[in-house]
Amino acid sequence: METAPVRVGLLGCGNVGGALAQLLLDDADRIRSRTGLRFELRAVAVRSQTRERRVSLPAGLLTTDGHAVASSADIDVLVETIGGIEPARSLILAALKAGKPVVTANKELLANCGAELFEAAATAGVDLLFEASVAGGIPIIRPLRESLAGEHVRRVMGIVNGTTNFILTRMSEGGENYHDALAEAQSLGYAERDPTADVEGFDAAAKAAILANVAFGVRVVAGDVYREGISELTPSDIAMADRMGYVLKLLAIVAQDDGDGDDTPPGVAVRVHPAMVPATHPLASVRDSYNAVFVEGDSVGQLMLLGRGAGGPPTASAVLGDLIDAAHNLRNRSAGRTVALRESAIRPIDDLLSAYYLRLLVADRPGVLHAVSGVFGRHDVSIRSMEQETDEEAGGDEARLVFVTHPARERNVQACLHELRTLDVVDRIGGLIRVIGP
Ligand code: HSE
Repeated sequence: METAPVRVGLLGCGNVGGALAQLLLDDADRIRSRTGLRFELRAVAVRSQTRERRVSLPAGLLTTDGHAVASSADIDVLVETIGGIEPARSLILAALKAGKPVVTANKELLANCGAELFEAAATAGVDLLFEASVAGGIPIIRPLRESLAGEHVRRVMGIVNGTTNFILTRMSEGGENYHDALAEAQSLGYAERDPTADVEGFDAAAKAAILANVAFGVRVVAGDVYREGISELTPSDIAMADRMGYVLKLLAIVAQDDGDGDDTPPGVAVRVHPAMVPATHPLASVRDSYNAVFVEGDSVGQLMLLGRGAGGPPTASAVLGDLIDAAHNLRNRSAGRTVALRESAIRPIDDLLSAYYLRLLVADRPGVLHAVSGVFGRHDVSIRSMEQETDEEAGGDEARLVFVTHPARERNVQACLHELRTLDVVDRIGGLIRVIGP
């Protein structure tokens, strides 16, 4: 018996939207034989109808009227790939209100307005699916929402930005400095001409907020995420990390703790910063522009998913998976799980308990080490190891001291830095980098 088609409205036909359209047009038979679903691309809303596109669409599909597509009675499911907050937010809300499931790849929107959209989907009793919003082609949202729904997830650590992972890989394996590695990332099309969103960690922070929503069911927005980028890292930090058995990675980390009774309620820590990862840790082996997400839970233990975190076809693969899910649910007159977010305390970075790497440039004369180590002691920061190198460029009058601490509170380490800055013998304080435990 011929089944009725699932009619798809698509917003945006760029990298991801175009790759999805191509899949729907080229792979229709394969998708149908595997899923029993026949998708029909009914309308594609774009900003300009005359722009050249990689995918050649059947005549009459293109329109510049996104609102007409989002609320059309001729559409069963809406797919949004335009990105940004508006008009994506209004178009998605209109579709949900009209009872249409929505699939989106839009991290910025979800990381800022997720709660509003999830509520709208729950009220309408339809799906809002967003697998492609974090780490592109890597399935991580559905595993966290469904497979690990009963798991007590403690921590999720992700390399969720391919551009920065590429730059750090070039710096550590190719010995390049930050600016040369960035230029190479730009020439390969990984980094934008203005690379701020990637290199300063904004892109990863949006993804961290979504991971916290899904892993813990708590309300976190992009602005709640503590963020540091990679632009201050030097070749000497990378070389030192290597010598000490670590690899430098930009990590998005979301962690939850149960609090300790009345004084400290349960809370979540959500942060993005460079971290020294032991070379033996699975995340250390994630190279070039690859992404990976590492999950730690009480029962499941540790698991990691690795793959392409960006690019048209990988991201479109995630969108198509969601589209198939939404279409099945539509057929069965059901909707998947909604995301219900509860309020939770967000731990300030000052509360973080971590080991730290710290590089100082100091005068090379008697008593300096004593003065410096005294500052650590006064702030309750215990030194695990220290290395000294004479800085020949400074005529042998200066030494580079590299400390690694035992786990300490961030607020104590910051107080220690503050006092170190007041010492005459300290010329420069270089990188302060958090160290991930084995
Ligand atoms: N610019 C991102 C990256 C992909 O480099 O991974 C989109 O989030």
